Amino acid sequence: MSAPSQPPSVAQPPATPTASRTGATFTPPGEDDIPSGPFGDLVRHGRDIFTDTGTYAAAYVGNGLSCSNCHLDAGRLANSAPLWGAYVRYPAYRSKTGQVNDYIQRLQGCFVYSMNGKAPPAGSSEMLALEAYSFWMSKGAPVGATLAGAGYPKMKAPQPPDYRRGELVFQDNCALCHGKDGQGQKVAGRFVFPPLWGPDSYNWGAGMHQLDNAAAFIQANMPLGRGGSLGNQQAWDVAMFIDAHERPQDPRFTGDVAATRKLFHDDPNSLYGTVVDGRLLGANPPGPGAQKNRSVHQ
Ligand code: HEC
Ligand code: HEC
Repeated sequence: MSAPSQPPSVAQPPATPTASRTGATFTPPGEDDIPSGPFGDLVRHGRDIFTDTGTYAAAYVGNGLSCSNCHLDAGRLANSAPLWGAYVRYPAYRSKTGQVNDYIQRLQGCFVYSMNGKAPPAGSSEMLALEAYSFWMSKGAPVGATLAGAGYPKMKAPQPPDYRRGELVFQDNCALCHGKDGQGQKVAGRFVFPPLWGPDSYNWGAGMHQLDNAAAFIQANMPLGRGGSLGNQQAWDVAMFIDAHERPQDPRFTGDVAATRKLFHDDPNSLYGTVVDGRLLGANPPGPGAQKNRSVHQ
């Protein structure tokens, strides 16, 4: 372990910390530090699931994403909801579920929504491996702490986000990698640049569909390799542009968009059930048929 005064060993400098984000910095162990033996094997398996989810946890994935597409550098990067920032802060109350959830339940949430899939059961080999990987990466982190660099660093926009301005930010800064149509790019049938909306992206229940989360992730981490280069307003505008496109239905869908909004999306950060650019969002999600045809792992 390095001295606690050192900044996290990350590929990019963390975005400007805000006053609310206090606490010690933390340096997770490096990949080479994974021990040999059964525990190390399980940790490596967890890393493989995290970075190539469609291959190593295929039964539980319903889109073209991997965990590490949003939790960068294999879950290590500060300000992209790193695993070491997460592991030490559960069990915790979550307003999304209205309950205290443990770490396993938190992992399951990202399978159901971010991966548009199914939750691997507690005790399954997949869950055990992801838990071992997170535990290993958090070695020496103080239990119960909110570490600097944990989560996505939320920030406010000077003005309300705007779809048209966001479209321009997207064309200038994102389309090169994610495609003009936001559908990402594949090489040899596998996504090298992940889709931002449509059948292979995160669904309407995912954290990334919320404007504050998406803006924070984007401002800190995108364009890839140039995190921190967009202004707060640009990040919010492009977050709105992305999250005003159709994606797989919220698994909690009641059969009625307005009722589903009232129950689960009664929040200014959610565009679900609102009309943007003439489209009622959530009303025309790409169906499972489209998903099957487009999915990498079929
Ligand atoms: C589309 C992007 C996306 C994908 C893919 C994704 N996540 Fe997440 N994840 C998020 C967002 C957004 C949050 C909420 C972060 C916050 O609240 O600050 C989150 C939160 C988490 C947390 C809790 C973080 C914390 O600090 O409390 C864990 C653990 C987690 N995800 C694990 C996973 C795992 C495991 C996978 C793959 C099975 C995965 N995620 C896939 C976007 C994603
Ligand atoms: C240089 C190529 C590149 C550019 C430019 C780029 N991205 Fe990304 N983006 C990526 C890659 C690659 C990932 C997945 C990261 C990983 O797996 O390590 C990603 C991940 C994402 C994700 C999370 C995964 C998903 O599919 O939802 C979002 C959201 C995102 N980018 C938004 C943007 C936005 C908005 C811009 C423009 C401001 C942008 N990106 C510009 C390459 C790029």
